[in-house]
Amino acid sequence: MMGLLACHAPEPAGRDTPVDDTAVPTDTATTGRPILVTVPDAADADTSDAIVFDLTAAAATHSIGGATYAGYAYNGGAPGPTLRARVGDTVTVRFRNELDAETTVHWHGLAVPNAMDGVSWVSAPLPPRSDFTYTLPMTRAGTFWYHPHIDTDHQVDLGLYGPFVVEDPTEPAADRELIVVFDSWGEATVDDAHGLTNPEDAVWTANGRVDPAYPATAGERIRVRMVNAANTAYLDIGWPGLRQIAGDQGLDATNEVDRVLLAPGDRAEFEWLVAGSFDVTTLPYVAAGGSSWGDERRLFSVEAAGSATAPEPTPWPFPTESVSPDPGRTDLTYVFAGDGTAEWLINGEAWPDITVSTATLGSPTVIEARNLSATEHPFHLHGHAFEVLSVDGVAPQHRMVEDTFNLAIRGTARFLLNPDNPGDWMLHCHLLAHEEGGMMTVLRVE
Ligand code: C2O
Ligand code: CU
Repeated sequence: MMGLLACHAPEPAGRDTPVDDTAVPTDTATTGRPILVTVPDAADADTSDAIVFDLTAAAATHSIGGATYAGYAYNGGAPGPTLRARVGDTVTVRFRNELDAETTVHWHGLAVPNAMDGVSWVSAPLPPRSDFTYTLPMTRAGTFWYHPHIDTDHQVDLGLYGPFVVEDPTEPAADRELIVVFDSWGEATVDDAHGLTNPEDAVWTANGRVDPAYPATAGERIRVRMVNAANTAYLDIGWPGLRQIAGDQGLDATNEVDRVLLAPGDRAEFEWLVAGSFDVTTLPYVAAGGSSWGDERRLFSVEAAGSATAPEPTPWPFPTESVSPDPGRTDLTYVFAGDGTAEWLINGEAWPDITVSTATLGSPTVIEARNLSATEHPFHLHGHAFEVLSVDGVAPQHRMVEDTFNLAIRGTARFLLNPDNPGDWMLHCHLLAHEEGGMMTVLRVE
């Protein structure tokens, strides 16, 4: 089935130079490797102006680098389809649960109304063979994703995840867009695959394929949206001439660095100014220790045809605001602790035996997140974006607006939150084994 996607991958709307993947000479013959295709858009099931997507979770068999795994999928794929909309749209998702288990769909990074957030703290999980319609206003452009939020570690592990792209029509179009959803798989079974295994043993997939090749053409500008959907595994990605243009919550600034850490749940956007072929690599990285080591391993390669020189960068309309000054007070403190032999704790409590913290609707709130443990934790808050004020006392180089932010070992990060979305919002570690192990609490905005 995956082979068909190469023919049917739609080009994003509004691109003036459509490139047909099937027309580019593929490297399968020369490299013997699978072709990487972007994650195809879900079809809009409605003929009027309304945007309606049909999404079904069901059992599926995943074929990963020659091994077969019994798992789950959205609309038959892991990743599930790209749900694409524009800022200002209202998206309707008609969800059908064909699993033998309860599930929910959570819209990671999107500021949706609390009742649509897909968490069992707020609304009942969806029983097997039931339907639910999610109504989602699109408030911010960026690269987001969706996944279950009950038995999360297990259900995401089995293959339930997909990208959600919100476009801002005022942003210039690249020649092409590539969405890459990464997942890591282990050697034995799917259940083992996403646990805290040795990162040197991890088998990474890019859109479900192991070490594929992406055909490109020299002279192209490609906007690349990456999602780390792995339960526990970090990516420490790099390639020559890396240019990051966005973090979790849309365009922020051009960031030219050697490598970018993508913790589980994180997204980032990049621009490729294609002049020749190159490899996209990661380094083995472990959260318990907070560092990478060893040799680069290839996640996929970009195989450039033609000999044009690199194009000029796109003039992205980056936000002009500078980094907000730290107000100096702390309104909410979250202390992440645990040693992996017992429970994982936030402020000394393990989910579900937690104390609800509160923020006042409309009142800027300073959050301090401290990590007391010997392992890193990706801090994630639902329903909101927050600005990073500082990390260990140092303000970032440019304004960073995030919803998932990796807390270094013994590190302290300070965030500025505008609590503008009323309701009870989950706040947790996005290492899903930690979340299930208790590292989750609730922030009430009222
Ligand atoms: Cu990506 Cu609470 O989730
Ligand atoms: Cu954690």
